[in-house]
Amino acid sequence: MHKPIREVLDGRRQPVPPVWMMRQAGRYLPEYMAIRKTVGSMLEMCFAPKLAAEVTLQPIRRFGFDAAILFSDILVIPHALGRHVRFEAGEGPRLPPLDDPAAMMKLRGPADDAVLAPIYETIRLVKAELPPEVTFLGFCGGPWTVATYMVAGRGTPDQAPARLFAYRHPEAFAHLIDMLVEASADYLVRQLRAGVDAVQIFDTWAGILPPDEFQRWCIAPTMRIVADVRRAVPGAKVIGFPRGAGSNLKRYVGDVEIDAVGLDWMVDLDFARDIQRRRPVQGNLDPLALRAGGAALDRGVDAILQALAGGPFIFNLGHGILPDTPVAHVEQMLKRVRG
Ligand code: CP3
Repeated sequence: MHKPIREVLDGRRQPVPPVWMMRQAGRYLPEYMAIRKTVGSMLEMCFAPKLAAEVTLQPIRRFGFDAAILFSDILVIPHALGRHVRFEAGEGPRLPPLDDPAAMMKLRGPADDAVLAPIYETIRLVKAELPPEVTFLGFCGGPWTVATYMVAGRGTPDQAPARLFAYRHPEAFAHLIDMLVEASADYLVRQLRAGVDAVQIFDTWAGILPPDEFQRWCIAPTMRIVADVRRAVPGAKVIGFPRGAGSNLKRYVGDVEIDAVGLDWMVDLDFARDIQRRRPVQGNLDPLALRAGGAALDRGVDAILQALAGGPFIFNLGHGILPDTPVAHVEQMLKRVRG
């Protein structure tokens, strides 16, 4: 069956750019909120296959996106490594902070299979329901991004705790990254075996690293994940999303053998076209342009199509959709992209 997003990941431009949105299963959808209200926490929902499958499918039914993305979270990996995660209402994730190098050196994998098993069950449930032309995406966090939350125990404006820790205790930090590389690669392999068509690596905090650290904590670990995954699943399709990487994107697409790169909304479109000569690209509408709607939304969509739709391209936002985005704006965006 022809899956437009799979085609782009094989390097083939599509006449109408396929489209999906990061965080498309989420709080801007009334049908998501209806289910979300019935469970105690976001994490509980990640580990409830029937509910997670249902919210994964909701945006496909409503909008006919070209990809479904598994409903889960990047922080299930630390959770399965014994660093328990809580989602505080309206405040984001909380973990026990990891600020002692000796304690960090003592951490051991592998991730607990029993914790992650319900996620593979969700994948099987979604797979059975998904229209055949829709590409099913699994994901994990980039080791750097996941480590920033593990060190600080939460999100912070610039993830300074992890940067500081990595400068002060590079060996302990390298041990943490190694553990995350192994756990993440294994997790992606299992997602692919359970039925996803491709996976995306979300390195949301890549952009705060200076170039040498970007090489060491973003590029090198991501290369290892991609190699490990392809060793187990030959030909596995991988999208990289090093948010905020800016000029480091050139090295990222040069070194990491990904099938497409996700671009955030700060990437200049001429530069994006340069990147597209190396790899298919995905992106990069400002989520706030979608939130604003009207002429700003149309202008944003048109500029991206003008620059990137001539090559292998997947339309997306430059980061996740904001919870207060009107559904009508998503419809407007889709009409504009699909013509
Ligand atoms: O629709 C999808 O994209 C699939 C599901 C998905 C979620 N999180 C669900 C979620 C995906 C791919 C993620 C990835 C994720 N999670 C990232 C990387 C991408 C990004 O958006 O930066 C990060 C950094 C996290 C960690 C995380 N999860 C944070 C910081 C927060 C709180 C911030 C917020 O938006 O509330 C979450 C919570 C979260 N993950 C929600 C959802 C739908 C909202 C919580 C809820 O519904 O109660």
